[in-house]
Amino acid sequence: MIQQEALVQEMKILAPGYYRLDLLAPGLAAEARPGQFIQVRAGDDGSLDPLLARPISLYRIDRNGGSVSMIFKAVGRGTAQLAAKQRGMLMKIWGPLGNGFAIPDAAQSLALVAGGVGMPPLFCLAEELRRARPGLRVELFYGGRTQRDLLVLEQWEAADIRVHSVTEDGSYGRKGLVTAVLEAQLRQKDYDFMVACGPTPMLKAVRQVALERGIAGQLSLESYMACGVGACLGCVCKHKAGYRRVCVDGPVFAMDEVDLE
Ligand SMILES: Cc1cc2nc3c(=O)[nH]c(=O)nc-3n(C[C@H](O)[C@H](O)[C@H](O)COP(=O)(O)OP(=O)(O)OC[C@H]3O[C@@H](n4cnc5c(N)ncnc54)[C@H](O)[C@@H]3O)c2cc1C
Ligand code: FES
Repeated sequence: MIQQEALVQEMKILAPGYYRLDLLAPGLAAEARPGQFIQVRAGDDGSLDPLLARPISLYRIDRNGGSVSMIFKAVGRGTAQLAAKQRGMLMKIWGPLGNGFAIPDAAQSLALVAGGVGMPPLFCLAEELRRARPGLRVELFYGGRTQRDLLVLEQWEAADIRVHSVTEDGSYGRKGLVTAVLEAQLRQKDYDFMVACGPTPMLKAVRQVALERGIAGQLSLESYMACGVGACLGCVCKHKAGYRRVCVDGPVFAMDEVDLE
């Protein structure tokens, strides 16, 4: 894990309330894997307000350029402060943290299921797989409340990955819940492995769909975090082997191992 002051290369507004943050962090970029996250101190230089750093997933890892990118939604005090950062500023960060995704070598086809800001770590995974395993069929099922909640669709297109877009209000793509579209698609097409990241109700539904069909997979959980490094036990989740810390034992867990109730 690297603790450092990273230079803000760009802060871009993607849609109202949604931001992409690019940081120059060569050491972190060299070590990081898809599914890992970093802790970001949102307060201004030296400020401990808010006291706790905020966990944000890696959206892109540019090892050659030595940078990492995140996409986040401003939902409260910390992320609002984060959104106020500008190019040229320095930010305290540490990471990479957590375990990251592991796709079995035998998998030939992969369904990614994203809800809202659960999408960024899945893009990171998809980009890595495009490079490392070009023969693997990858499709994304992407759900949001409205059209403005579906971000960077052009990046998925550029990566040549089929996207099943779903909005709850029908303003873009299919209308309804992403898990309903996933279920409908599974009647025509099979996938060897599934990976999901998003709100807990969506993760529960994806897990049920996958387990009913005997499809293995992984879920990336978003728990409340304090230390982010395994020390405070503030992020534990129920696991079939007892309790597990989402920040160090996760955030990625096998679908059939975590209890989301
Ligand atoms: C491993 C991990 C990776 C994450 N990756 C991303 C990401 O890539 N992009 C992104 O936008 N967000 C991500 N999050 C969520 C992000 O950390 C929170 O939105 C952020 O910490 C909120 O801080 P805040 O001070 O702005 O909000 P607060 O003022 O602390 O809270 C505002 C609202 O957000 C809710 N909230 C806060 N934290 C969480 C959480 N962890 N899960 C669910 N609801 C929460 C609160 O209940 C409250 O309603 C991730 C969280 C984890 C644990
Ligand atoms: S956030 Fe402290 S143990 Fe996970």
